[in-house]
Amino acid sequence: MFNQKAAIFEERSEVIDQIEYDSDQFIITLKAPKASKAAKPGEFAFVDCGENTLLRRPLSYLRTNPEKETVEFMYKIIGPGLEALSKMSTGDYVQMMGPIGNGFNHDPLKEIPVFIGGGVGIPPVLFLAEYLKKSNQDITPYAFFGSEIPFPFEVVTSNLKINGLNEADNKTIKDLEDKSIPCRLASLKEFAGCYKGYVTELANSWLSNLSESEKNKIVIYACGPELMLEAVSALARNHQIDCQLSLEEFMACAIGGCAGCTVKVSSGKDVAMKRVCVDGPVFDAKSIYPQ
Ligand SMILES: Cc1cc2nc3c(=O)[nH]c(=O)nc-3n(C[C@H](O)[C@H](O)[C@H](O)COP(=O)(O)OP(=O)(O)OC[C@H]3O[C@@H](n4cnc5c(N)ncnc54)[C@H](O)[C@@H]3O)c2cc1C
Ligand code: FES
Repeated sequence: MFNQKAAIFEERSEVIDQIEYDSDQFIITLKAPKASKAAKPGEFAFVDCGENTLLRRPLSYLRTNPEKETVEFMYKIIGPGLEALSKMSTGDYVQMMGPIGNGFNHDPLKEIPVFIGGGVGIPPVLFLAEYLKKSNQDITPYAFFGSEIPFPFEVVTSNLKINGLNEADNKTIKDLEDKSIPCRLASLKEFAGCYKGYVTELANSWLSNLSESEKNKIVIYACGPELMLEAVSALARNHQIDCQLSLEEFMACAIGGCAGCTVKVSSGKDVAMKRVCVDGPVFDAKSIYPQ
């Protein structure tokens, strides 16, 4: 349903804002006139983090704002690249290449898109949730996000009911609440108002209350750690729901040249090695976890 994919380009982008959250998490806003109009949910940018970081780092777009000509990324520092990026402040410039990859592909007949995100896997699915809701107010999306560190978003109590869930687990992300997208949060930590457990258990409690005809309208979109994606895949299989996964692999070139990001992808009996950067990062869950 998205417009044709834009060609990849380089853009020198000014830092407009950079907000630090708990546990080395950041949201950076960049002035990027071209990317703000071209980037789609699930695509990513290959970002030069500055200082002496040799390799660029792949980051999924969290949000685009074509009117303000900005893009946002959310990230957590693991090593020196994103640490260097975190030191950038307003007025600094970041060189980035994008939009890269094949993002999510939404079938408009699936009226109930469900977004499952874990940790730094939240950005592409949150972007898709907001994008779909903005383009079609009639869809009824649901989001379930998990994190073992405090969520790098404003968290509020939700007034949007989700059947089948404990009413005390009522915290949500304000940006989604404001856009009428029901969302609930999960963590193994004791975060107030969050379901204590895995995000897939939370989603399963809701799915288990739905009729077969409701489930036929659902498609799941997920991004997060590998174990979470495997569990999401099993969840989708158990409920016989279509599911797309956005994978995260270490990337050296991001343009298909080094084969450093390959994963095994099945299509029926055949198995092929595919590059996450240019063949993905979004794949059908059944092709990554055939059983
Ligand atoms: C398509 C895509 C989208 C992404 N989107 C985001 C995002 O929105 N936000 C975010 O925070 N992160 C995202 N990531 C992950 C992020 O790009 C990497 O974790 C990045 O390498 C972190 O950079 P760093 O400088 O903090 O750590 P690095 O110095 O790159 O990493 C430290 C160590 O971890 C290893 N390592 C890092 N990442 C991986 C990996 N994925 N697999 C195996 N080993 C690894 C490195 O070899 C190194 O030894 C995305 C990755 C991909 C592929
Ligand atoms: S990162 Fe080089 S082929 Fe994907």
